[in-house]
Amino acid sequence: KPRLYSGMQPSADSLQAGNYIGALLQWRTLQDTYDAFFSVVDLHALTQPNDPAELRVKTRRTAAQYIAAGIEPSRSTLYVQSHVPAHAELTWILSTITGFGEAGRMTQFKDKSQRYGADQTTVGLFTYPVLMAADILLYQTDIVPVGEDQKQHVELTRDLAERFNTRYGRAFEVPTPVIQKDTARIYDLQNPTAKMSKSAESDAGVLWLLDDPSASAKKVMRAVTDSEGSVRYDRENKPGVSNLLVIYAALTGRQIPAIEDEYAGRGYGDFKKGLAEVVVDEFGPVRERALALLDDPAELDRALAANAARASEIAERTLADVYEKVGLLRRV
Ligand code: TYM
Repeated sequence: KPRLYSGMQPSADSLQAGNYIGALLQWRTLQDTYDAFFSVVDLHALTQPNDPAELRVKTRRTAAQYIAAGIEPSRSTLYVQSHVPAHAELTWILSTITGFGEAGRMTQFKDKSQRYGADQTTVGLFTYPVLMAADILLYQTDIVPVGEDQKQHVELTRDLAERFNTRYGRAFEVPTPVIQKDTARIYDLQNPTAKMSKSAESDAGVLWLLDDPSASAKKVMRAVTDSEGSVRYDRENKPGVSNLLVIYAALTGRQIPAIEDEYAGRGYGDFKKGLAEVVVDEFGPVRERALALLDDPAELDRALAANAARASEIAERTLADVYEKVGLLRRV
């Protein structure tokens, strides 16, 4: 089977709808046809300020949400990044072939460093995409399903793989990003031209997977629309309604035109009520399953440990080959 790699940061207590629709839904389907690896990237999360005890909680909660959304730890390798030390080790090697300017061109770094200010911008934030490249390259990955915002990082990963292979001999598979066009970006419900994000300033426009279903329903009912009153997809002129249509379609597996037809001649109130039901029906059971898993953290931890062992085996093989190729003295 070809191999797949993807991951998410444990940067909040709950994942948001963009993570669910833009990533998890694809992952769940793709795990049938790929040898899939899904990590909770806790080392990446350290690039933001974190309370240590909270980070541990978020890491477990993120893993529980993967499983609750249908990622099966007996089939897919679902693990915590820091449990496999090879990630940090390969990052160092890759950082020695990454250009300073090349890393500086990453738009996510530019955005975040601008937001944080010079004092808060760390070397870790700068190196973030190199760690992501290490994640992917350790596993000889064929495809990387991500949302649009991560595409540039996967392109960098490809460049680094090719550069290493040319300079030192072939050690890495060159991965391909896979971006589901129509769900590549889910937008904030209150600010439908900004992507929905765990780190949004206000959470009024963010749908959380683990929120109380009635709170999510309320957020849908309050979503920003426009004054035209017709349920019609038009990204440019009707960003709010278009975003709601995309969410509706993604969660039901229906086509947008069919949903437009269903709500033709009806107001936004009806449409939002319909979507609120869809959201509650979809997120409610996921939430129940996640909370049940979190009730028994010891069992969850055992599953994560077993999966980390499986991941380590493959990662260590790649790392040993890389160390050999760059000329590090083998330990005997
Ligand atoms: P992260 O944690 O920000 O997001 C996880 C996944 O969710 C997608 N996503 C969205 N998709 C659509 N609409 C949105 N509003 C939205 N918000 C988030 C992201 O594109 C991503 O696929 N650097 C990565 C994590 C990472 C990784 C990796 C991914 C680390 N190593 C290796 C793939 C392979 C990140 O911060 O994702």
